[in-house]
Order: sequence, then C-alpha cells, then structure tokens
Amino acid sequence: MSGNRIRISSMEALPNNFPAFRDSMTEDIGAIYGADAAQWFRECARRMMTALLQQDKMLAWAAQTTANETVGLLYVALDGAHARVSLFHILPAYRDQGIEYLLLEEALDTLKKGGIRSTLCDIAFGVKLQADAMPGVHTCPREVMKAPAATIANTSTAQDASSVPLKSIQFGPAAACMARAYANHPDARLYHEIGSETEAHALLVRSQQGAYGHTTPQWMRALWQGPTCTGVILAGMPFPGMVFITQVCVDPQHQRRGHGSRLIAELAQAVVANNPDATLALGVTQASPARRLYERLGFRRFHTVMTFLWGNH
Ligand SMILES: CC(C)(COP(=O)(O)OP(=O)(O)OC[C@H]1O[C@@H](n2cnc3c(N)ncnc32)[C@H](O)[C@@H]1OP(=O)(O)O)[C@@H](O)C(=O)NCCC(=O)NCCS
Repeated sequence: MSGNRIRISSMEALPNNFPAFRDSMTEDIGAIYGADAAQWFRECARRMMTALLQQDKMLAWAAQTTANETVGLLYVALDGAHARVSLFHILPAYRDQGIEYLLLEEALDTLKKGGIRSTLCDIAFGVKLQADAMPGVHTCPREVMKAPAATIANTSTAQDASSVPLKSIQFGPAAACMARAYANHPDARLYHEIGSETEAHALLVRSQQGAYGHTTPQWMRALWQGPTCTGVILAGMPFPGMVFITQVCVDPQHQRRGHGSRLIAELAQAVVANNPDATLALGVTQASPARRLYERLGFRRFHTVMTFLWGNH
C-alpha cells in the first residue's frame, strides 16, 4: 500500500480495530520488557489509551486506509511550548511504507501552528524512523539500562545527609535545583522539560500525578542542605515490577561527592521495601558521563531507543 492511499485524521476515540493495536503493542512491549509487562499492558491497554485520549493536553492522530481501517496511531502530550510523543504504533502489515512519516508530518504541522517549539519522540513501539528521513530532526541513541533494585539498594553511599521524600510544597526549590543541574548539560535539548524552573516544576507535578507510571512519595526524593535542594531523584512504575528512574540530578556545586549514587541507592531501598523483586531501569545517552556512574553501580544496557527531536519548528 503506498502512502498516498492513507488518510491522516485527528482522533477522538479508540478505533474499531483496537484489539489489533492492543495485540501488536503487547507483543512489542513483551519483547523488550518481558512477559509480566506484556500481560499487564494487555489487561489495561483499553482503559489507559482511552484515558490518555480524554486528557486536555493530549492530541492524537490516526492513519486510515481507503477502507477506513485504522493502521497507525500517534498520541502527543503537550507541555507548555514543548510536546512529547507518548504513543506511536503502526500495525505490522503496514510498517516501512512511509505511514509513520505521514502521521508525523500532520502532527508536527498542527503542533507548529499551535505554537509548539519542539517535539520529542523516544517511545515508538513498532515504528522505525530513519535518522535522515525528515528535515530539521536531531537524533540521539539512548541506552536503557537495568539492575535488580535489591543489588542497587546494597550499594554503599556517602555518609552525610540522607535523601527524604519530596513534598509538593518543596517543588519550588527542587525545580530550581533541577534547572541548575541541566543549565549546561551537553544533552540539554533532549531535556527540554527541564529547560527552566517553571518547566521543571511542571515536570514534578506530572510525575506526582503518575504521568511516568505509578509513583509514591518515597520514589520522589530530594537531598537538602538547609533550605537549598541539592539533589532530586524521580521514579515511576510504568509496568509492574519495573521502576524507571525518570530523573536524577545533583546541583553542580555538589556533584562528584557521592550524592547521585546515594539518591539512587536510597530510591532502590525505598523500592525494595515493598517490591523486593523489582527491577530498576533508566535511560542514558551514549555520550553522557553519568553512564559510568550507572555502570559502576551495576546497571547494564538491555535496549537502545533512538530519540528524535524536532526543534524550533
Ligand atoms: C549524573 C549526576 C546525577 C551524578 O551526580 P554526582 O553527585 O556527581 O554522582 P556521584 O558523586 O555519586 O558519582 C560521580 C560519578 O558520576 C560520573 N559523572 C557524572 N557526571 C559527570 C561529569 N559531568 N563529569 C565526569 N563524571 C561524571 C562519574 O563516573 C563520577 O565518578 P568519578 O567522580 O569517580 O569520576 C550529576 O552529574 C548530574 O546531576 N548531572 C546532570 C544531570 C544528569 O545528567 N542526570 C542524568 C541524566 S541520565
């Protein structure tokens, strides 16, 4: 089927052939995250994908054949002037035919007209984008690493102040610490969600609301020196048994004294308290110096995702 027989339209409700998407995405998720994650996704896919569609800050598009069969879906979450792809899937029989680009072009055009300045895609099950296939795109491989939480929980850490659960009332100083940590980061454009204190604050609120998986106050932790926040770690459980560290950062003035390791170890301790068999996972760019730290703690690569960023459109 050639791309020009495909129609892209905005989507308000799940397609009639939703089970085909559920089955295909379940298979892709299982191949990366294992049978438990696949089983969980299969059970809650309809509820989760319907709830996402109903969110005010979510836009979605469908690719349909001339016979009105939906063959591709794209969900994009808006965050101020930025957008992030939160679901992107093409049914197996329709892959590698250019449909992914038709969906993206339509979405990016709408987002650009709506004033969105950059769009990030680092989650695309069953969609393979080519790095040079679209103009104005920055690409970057990101390694996904994992380790048993129990192993990380036993890592010895620095001896000074311990991290504590982060309370909503402390989001201001925590956001300021996050913005300081990313101010001169070599991968800053991939972290547009932390480009400023305001954006970091919004990220904290979204994390707390479960946008990156179920979380608890114990999994959103901070280090303090008096009223100054010196480090933050955020984690969520998108699949049962798999806790993703979505953010870890230390104020530049306090780095390389063991605080980052301590935040990760204390998060792991909080995780194993209720989930002794959980796996901890995180994503890191190949060039990031933080990779050495993760490897030293015991994290190992198990998957690589290509991150795409369309900027300043
Ligand atoms: C990654 C980060 C949280 C580590 O915090 P930290 O308190 O310095 O961590 P620790 O002191 O426990 O460990 C330091 C180790 O991290 C690695 N590391 C992290 N950032 C580094 C950098 N900018 N330069 C060199 N090494 C770095 C090194 O292996 C270092 O060990 P070493 O000092 O023995 O060489 C911190 O550097 C940071 O906030 N960076 C900016 C935000 C970021 O990149 N977050 C991770 C995204 S994947």
